[in-house]
Amino acid sequence: MATINKRLKDIKRVIVVVGGKGGVGKSLIATTLSLVLSKRGHSVGLLDLDFHGPSCHTILDAKGVMPTEGEGIIPPEIHGIKLMSVVYYVGEKPLPLRGTEISNVFTELLAITKWGRTDYLIVDAPPGMGEEILDVIRLMKKGEFLIVTTPSNLALKTMSRLVKLLLEIRVPVLGIVENMRITKTKLTEELAKGLDIKYLGYVSFDYNLEGCISNPKKLLKTKFADNVKNILKVV
Ligand SMILES: Nc1ncnc2c1ncn2[C@@H]1O[C@H](COP(=O)(O)OP(=O)(O)OP(=O)(O)O)[C@@H](O)[C@H]1O
Ligand SMILES: [Mg+2]
Repeated sequence: MATINKRLKDIKRVIVVVGGKGGVGKSLIATTLSLVLSKRGHSVGLLDLDFHGPSCHTILDAKGVMPTEGEGIIPPEIHGIKLMSVVYYVGEKPLPLRGTEISNVFTELLAITKWGRTDYLIVDAPPGMGEEILDVIRLMKKGEFLIVTTPSNLALKTMSRLVKLLLEIRVPVLGIVENMRITKTKLTEELAKGLDIKYLGYVSFDYNLEGCISNPKKLLKTKFADNVKNILKVV
């Protein structure tokens, strides 16, 4: 724990992007947030915590890069972002891990990664309320949680459970982002109100987004990125 605290010491803010449900846009929002913050001159780290389905490297088009070693591991900079991911070690191979193994990999990653002076460390969480989230709460005391959901009733229900858990254990919750909005609906905003947390705004469904994956420059010019910038104004 002392080693982990030492590694995280020079990080100003840790924003953990979580969502309850899968496929709601956590990875795209986490990566776009990182790109926007980096473009604005901040020092940014991005930790891909989705060991079973890492995505950040694909969105950033990180190819042929590896961390460098020296009393720990220094993550490579991709488009100005210090990216840490298990993908450096497993490539495209599946990484089947059980509960305690997930914890071990995560603890090891936190203990070896040298982020250095960092304004924002963005954490892209896997779906659900599994081991990884509980470990973030246990090991990353600076973590502030940003919840992503779609306005679908199914996603909202699962998201509510996650929010209740986070509030119960008294970790900071920045608020809820409504993603992939197609029609105007108040569902997410009302739910946020009911849960007594901030509604941070919405990100519209962007039909051009798929063509911008693996092209960060293009991604930054999308309506999606504009919406993410609006969210940043309130976090
Ligand atoms: N606002 C949006 N407009 C259009 N497509 C979107 C939007 N947000 C996300 N997507 C698409 O939805 C899919 C899921 O996005 P993403 O992988 O970021 O979700 P996730 O929550 O990280 O998923 P997982 O739970 O599997 O990690 C992707 O194909 C992405 O391109
Ligand atoms: Mg993801």
